[in-house]
Amino acid sequence: MATLDTLLPTALQARVRAQDGTWLVTGAAGFIGSNLVEALLGLGQAVVGLDNFATGHRRNLDEVERLVGPQAWSRFSFVEGDIRRLDDCRAACAGVRHVLHQAALGSVPRSVEDPLATHAANATGFLNMLVAARDAGVGSFTYAASSSTYGDEPSLPKVEDVIGRALSPYAVTKLLNEIYAEVFARCYGFKSIGLRYFNVFGRRQDPEGAYAAVIPQWIATMLRGDGVYINGDGETTRDFCHVANAVQANLLAALAPEEHRDRVYNVAVGQRTSLNQLFEGLVRQLASEGVDYAQSPVYRDFRAGDVRHSLADIQRAATRLGYAPTHTLAEGLDEAMPWYLEFIAGQTA
Ligand SMILES: NC(=O)c1ccc[n+]([C@@H]2O[C@H](COP(=O)([O-])OP(=O)(O)OC[C@H]3O[C@@H](n4cnc5c(N)ncnc54)[C@H](O)[C@@H]3O)[C@@H](O)[C@H]2O)c1
Repeated sequence: MATLDTLLPTALQARVRAQDGTWLVTGAAGFIGSNLVEALLGLGQAVVGLDNFATGHRRNLDEVERLVGPQAWSRFSFVEGDIRRLDDCRAACAGVRHVLHQAALGSVPRSVEDPLATHAANATGFLNMLVAARDAGVGSFTYAASSSTYGDEPSLPKVEDVIGRALSPYAVTKLLNEIYAEVFARCYGFKSIGLRYFNVFGRRQDPEGAYAAVIPQWIATMLRGDGVYINGDGETTRDFCHVANAVQANLLAALAPEEHRDRVYNVAVGQRTSLNQLFEGLVRQLASEGVDYAQSPVYRDFRAGDVRHSLADIQRAATRLGYAPTHTLAEGLDEAMPWYLEFIAGQTA
């Protein structure tokens, strides 16, 4: 079982422990949000969670409660609410010092199928959160941006200031977040930090449903002995980033000095892996856990809206925030795999 010491640099843990004031994590019942809640409670913090369970699960919060124990859990309060409603955002922001805004409808294909739903949660919901946080006078506002913002920009690695045209409605909403954040700094002096996540994975990332991310979806498929589909030729690349790195980036951003706010930062590892390599890596990883997967992947069409190659330059986050990823893809899979084995076994029991 991973402990805080294996997931977060000790100096950062000490800085967080020294904080007083409450943290708000929106999307707390989701994958990244629940990992943030777990880390913050483990570091002695008081946390408010906001979620409407659109894609998150009560079981994630139940798991965090089990992991942190009753004493830490008593510092958690939950607002079941919807960021599409300003009043819910205001209720969640009341008395809060640091906001880590994660709530959104993820998935490029979901947004291609239902752009209105994605816009309502990701654009209107974001604006509501900005207004509520500004009016509540919070001390820091950090939000989940996305590597999808690089769109059709071909250069690699991706540097924050060079973006292309958006390839999906999801990417439009994430770009809008950045534009609104910038304008709130300009118009109201309300500064924030956007973290452009690159394919985050780890414990509690949902393996189920049509919009599941590639790593959990493939692990679950392999564990069930079903066929794995690769969209395109398998040479599409991604900079896979374990959730411990994303948690680290959020905590660093929340504590960042004034001069490093009002910016976006890439959050990734800075290593590129093709889908074919990922497939082989997962087969090897499962074999080391005693699970043999002998099937070959089935190749099908490229998926609309997908970026072809993704690799981050993480220098800006390293230099200004002190970000130093602790987990490569292989190390992250080592950490996450036992959770998936248990989760899938629990479902088939
Ligand atoms: N996972 C990744 O690889 C990745 C990459 C780039 C950006 N992001 C962004 O990171 C954030 C967290 O993503 P995740 O992977 O944890 O996804 P997730 O679906 O597990 O978590 C999102 C959470 O937001 C909640 N939510 C959605 N709409 C809401 C609403 N209207 N009101 C209140 N809560 C709502 C969901 O119920 C869910 O619990 C999102 O903003 C996502 O766009 C994720």
